Amino acid sequence: MPAIVVIGAHWGDEGKGKIVDMLSQSADMVARFSGGDNAGHTVINHLGEFSLHQIPTGIFCPNATCVIGNGAVVNAETALRELELVEGLGIDVSRFHISDQAQLVLPYHLMLDGAEEAYRGDEAIGTTKRGIGPAYTDKVGRVGLRTGDLLDTDELAARLGRAVQTINIRLQGYGAKPASFPELFKLCQGYAQRLRLYIRPVGALLNEALAKGETVIFEGAQGTLLDLDFGTYPYVTSSSTTAQGVYTGAGIRPRALECVLGVFKAYTTRVGTGPMPTELLDETGELIRQRAKEFGTTTGRARRCGWFDAVAGRYSVDLNGMTAGALTRLDVLDDFPSVRVCVAYELDGRRIEHFPTNQATLDRCKPIYEELPGWLAPTPDLRQFDQLPQNARAYIRRLEELVGCEMRLISVGPRRDETIHAKPLL
Ligand code: GDP
Ligand code: IMO
Ligand code: MG
Repeated sequence: MPAIVVIGAHWGDEGKGKIVDMLSQSADMVARFSGGDNAGHTVINHLGEFSLHQIPTGIFCPNATCVIGNGAVVNAETALRELELVEGLGIDVSRFHISDQAQLVLPYHLMLDGAEEAYRGDEAIGTTKRGIGPAYTDKVGRVGLRTGDLLDTDELAARLGRAVQTINIRLQGYGAKPASFPELFKLCQGYAQRLRLYIRPVGALLNEALAKGETVIFEGAQGTLLDLDFGTYPYVTSSSTTAQGVYTGAGIRPRALECVLGVFKAYTTRVGTGPMPTELLDETGELIRQRAKEFGTTTGRARRCGWFDAVAGRYSVDLNGMTAGALTRLDVLDDFPSVRVCVAYELDGRRIEHFPTNQATLDRCKPIYEELPGWLAPTPDLRQFDQLPQNARAYIRRLEELVGCEMRLISVGPRRDETIHAKPLL
């Protein structure tokens, strides 16, 4: 199996962690290419249940080299904590590397994230407050620090000095406490000491592996509709979460990807603010949330729940050029007498079938549903597509038809083995 990217098809938390963990069993490399520790990827394996935010979930697989690419942002505290956790489980972390071109998330980014959210008031994005937006802002503004800067003390002092000056102007504007250069310099020297061994160029490593035909899994974070360019802007994250982001975020050659695997949840969820046409604010939404335990992996916030949005799903398939789909959490719908799918939107009295790119327009869209009979039978023990109840199969087939992509993996529980391999990925 060659290069596969695993992408969230909606607003994140689709179960990418489980899918990446499963695929990593036969991978040579696993790479994160976007986002930072705003991600929360759940993995359940023989060692227990884990939620990884910063390092690739492939770290649990004994043979895979795991890397954080240049397009991701790195909170050194989180990375070190996770490395310590997995090392404590007896896992060899010498096969973990961080791109020297990845940006650092520093404490002042977290302060700015909090200050900016407070300033937005009613229009707050509902960020994870992990400093992600401010860190990417600094990258684009060319005042960010890269992990590679940690390796040269003089360069670190010079760059950090310039960054602190700029940041303090912004913090002051929000009435927040200024950042202290001496404290940050000491902190960064500590990071340098502990992370030095892991920092190196990783683009070349990935390209070499791809040239040899090795299996490389690119672990997407967040979801397509949170993409900075293509998501529900401004209620998005600050990175490129789509398959497009792999090329700039991992430094691999265009055309390297052979499989774009979209991960869809059998219903839709969203954390934070912003439009979500199928959100259910009634007891059905609450029922899904309770049954599925839809509370954020990173922040513990209740996730907004609703029926499957196939309009958004189709947009996501087209945009990413998805070649295969993985449908997760089918089991959550096992007890519903009937299930609904949003097949189109009503916009100002008209039916539309495309996903509007403008937030104000999307805000006015109302879902048009199709209702299908439920299957009222447990699915977690099933391993073959044909064993699924007929109504569950009909539901999957209808989703495939609507989004334009085959669901080649069906997940019926959080564990690795609770999966139906309906068709090969390639
Ligand atoms: P990610 O951010 O896309 O990796 O997803 P999260 O880990 O944040 O959230 C997905 C949640 O669903 C986790 O608690 C997983 O253990 C769980 N999960 C994944 N697949 C399934 C499934 O098929 N059924 C059930 N019931 N839970 C699942
Ligand atoms: P995984 O990888 C779900 C959301 C936040 C907020 C918006 C911006 O686990 O699927 P940010 O902190 O990134 O500036 O917040 O994006 N968000 C996620 N929602 N899953 C995620 O990651 C998310 N990462 C960010 O809730 O609405
Ligand atoms: Mg998550």
